[in-house]
Parts: sequence; C-alpha cells; structure tokens
Amino acid sequence: MNEPLRPVHDDVGGPAQPLLTIRGLQKHYPLAKGLLGRGGGSVRAVDGIDFEVRKGETLGVVGESGCGKSTTARLLMQLIRPTAGEVVFDGRTVGGRDLPLKQFHRQVQMVFQDSYASLNPRLTIEDSIAFGPQVHGSGRRPAVQRARDLLARVGLEPQRFAERYPHELSGGQRQRVNIARALALQPRLLILDEAVSALDKSVEAQVINLLLDLKAEFGLTYLFISHDLQVVRYLSDRVMVMYLGRVAELGPSESLYAGPLHPYTRALLSSMPSMDPDHRTERALLAGDPPNPIDPPAGCRFHPRCPDAAPVCGQRAPVLAARRGAHTVACLMHEPGSGHPAAT
Ligand SMILES: Nc1ncnc2c1ncn2[C@@H]1O[C@H](COP(=O)(O)OP(=O)(O)OP(=O)(O)O)[C@@H](O)[C@H]1O
Ligand code: SF4
Ligand SMILES: [Mg+2]
Repeated sequence: MNEPLRPVHDDVGGPAQPLLTIRGLQKHYPLAKGLLGRGGGSVRAVDGIDFEVRKGETLGVVGESGCGKSTTARLLMQLIRPTAGEVVFDGRTVGGRDLPLKQFHRQVQMVFQDSYASLNPRLTIEDSIAFGPQVHGSGRRPAVQRARDLLARVGLEPQRFAERYPHELSGGQRQRVNIARALALQPRLLILDEAVSALDKSVEAQVINLLLDLKAEFGLTYLFISHDLQVVRYLSDRVMVMYLGRVAELGPSESLYAGPLHPYTRALLSSMPSMDPDHRTERALLAGDPPNPIDPPAGCRFHPRCPDAAPVCGQRAPVLAARRGAHTVACLMHEPGSGHPAAT
C-alpha cells in the first residue's frame, strides 16, 4: 500500500483510557400534541445510558427492535443532538472546544445496513471513497490513490471496480465499498449498525472476516450493533444488552453468553438457535406486550414481561452495577437489600 494519508490523531490518554465514554445519554422525541393540546409526551428512544468502549475492543450491542440501538449509534456519531448527556472521546468532550466535531468525525466513522443508500449513485466508487479525505483537506491525487489502495484491501480489484457506479455492484461489494469509505479517513472507531445483516449468509461471513482482518491491521475499535446474537458472540469482546432505551446488562462475551444475569438476556439467548442439535429445545420465548418507549413501565422496565418479577420490581428501578467481576447488570435480584426475595 502507498504512503497512507497522514494520521491526524494520536492516542491521547494511553491504552487504559476508554476510547469512548458515554454518560447519562438521552434522546427523547417529543410527540405532537392532540387537537385540544393534550398528549404531548415523548418517545424515550434512549433514556439515560452510561457505558464505555475500550481501546481496541469490539463492543457488541443487542436488543429487540426499537430498544434504541440505532439512536445510540446516531447520538455517538453526533448525527442527532442528545436531550441530555455527553460523549467523551479519548478523554475529550465531543463537540466542545476540547474536541471540535470536525476533528471527531475524522476519528469515528459509521457503516449502515443499507449499502445502497449510503453511496452517492452519481459518483464512481473510487470518487465516493476519495470524497471524505478531500473534504478534510487532502489533495485529489493522494485521495484517489488511497481509495484504490483501500479498494484492493477490501477485496475489490481497483482496475475492475474503481470506475464503477454503486448500481453495478452486488450488496456485498457495496458494503465492502462502504467499509473502504469509512476507513479512508483513518478512523480509530467504526460504528457498524447492522452492517452485515442484509447480506446472504456466505457473503456475510466473508465480510465479517474482512472486518476482523481490518481491525487487526489498522488497530481499530468497533461498536458492532446486530440482531444476530451468534454473530455478535463471534465478533465481540464485550456485549451490551439494551432494553427500552436502557442498558440491561453489559459484560465480557464469554461470561454473558455462558451465564447471563438479567432475565431479559436469558430470554433473548434462549430464543437463539442452539449450535448443538442435541440441545435444541423450544424454550419459552419472550412473553407479554412488546415494549413501548412512549410510556415505559415504572420501576424495572422489564417487569411486565419478567418471569422473576416481584412486587418491588414495579416500584423501584434497578441500577446497572458490577455483580460478577466486570460483568454488570441492572436487576433487583442482583442488588443486595433491594427487597426482591431473590436478592441477598
Ligand atoms: N426520529 C424519530 N422520531 C420519533 N421516534 C423515533 C425516531 N427515531 C427513532 N424513534 C423511536 O425510538 C425508538 C428506538 O429506535 P431505534 O431505531 O434506535 O431502535 P433500534 O434498536 O435500532 O431498532 P432496530 O433493531 O429495529 O433497528 C423506537 O421506538 C423508534 O420508533
Ligand atoms: S428487576 Fe425484577 S422485573 Fe426487572 S429484570 Fe430483575 S427480577 Fe425482572
Ligand atoms: Mg436500528
């Protein structure tokens, strides 16, 4: 590969400082008022979450549709304004004097599910990839050269593909282009929001392996959002489980998959097809009403559906805290003295 574009960012805080620290992040969408001025209220898409993304890790994010995964990703990318909370990148508050948005956007890039919508249909893929660096001050020539290097790196031969337009590619090829485009600015963090979910299984596996290779080669950190619990397990060092705009559980992949602490995580995992055909049982799937972020239940948000709910669960909101090593959970059963009969 030719000389890469000069990196504009350094590791500020060293390996122990999280790459991303999220504090009290909220996004409420106001609802339109009714004719008599009644109603109002809001959709609490993300409702007060705190977590970290460590340097060099892949943090997986799972949870049912509508639990706030994409809203979280958009908030992190600063594509939408939070109702409250802050995002700190390598020790610096994003969007302030500390770390202006333009500098932040060089370091964090996002890949979405819809490979087609993210590419300009009127630009060749080489120009699409070279666009970002040019906006950030690179000359056309080095930007195009880097685009070609990156095309080769993501498995698309530049001679064959550079001049093509998005509609001339398959979904998997387009997603490779989107990955190349995301890497053109030499980011440190990639947010992958269902980035492989629309692909056929065999293509998906190839793109996942490409993501693993690129991560090692470029020293990247990933936030990997997916419905697919198997894929998340395969890729992630740690996994965060979201429920109705909150974090239910967050822990090392192995610990979380082998011994989920939150009843919601247990339900999610039990709906996952077992790899072992001898243990393929039909266990209870998630019961009860689907979650509604407009009027979330009081106390623990999961209590109307929770098989372990006790009276206190409708009155008191659990706090996310470490309960087994680095494994954190928000459930009153694991909160000493909470009043839940199973609490110690
Ligand atoms: N612009 C918006 N205005 C109002 N409500 C919104 C808006 N964007 C998202 N929401 C709502 O916020 C909640 C969270 O949506 P979000 O897209 O973050 O969920 P998700 O976890 O990514 O779901 P999926 O798995 O289906 O992608 C949903 O109830 C959604 O309807
Ligand atoms: S706090 Fe109560 S309702 Fe919520 S997950 Fe724990 S046991 Fe279930
Ligand atoms: Mg989503």
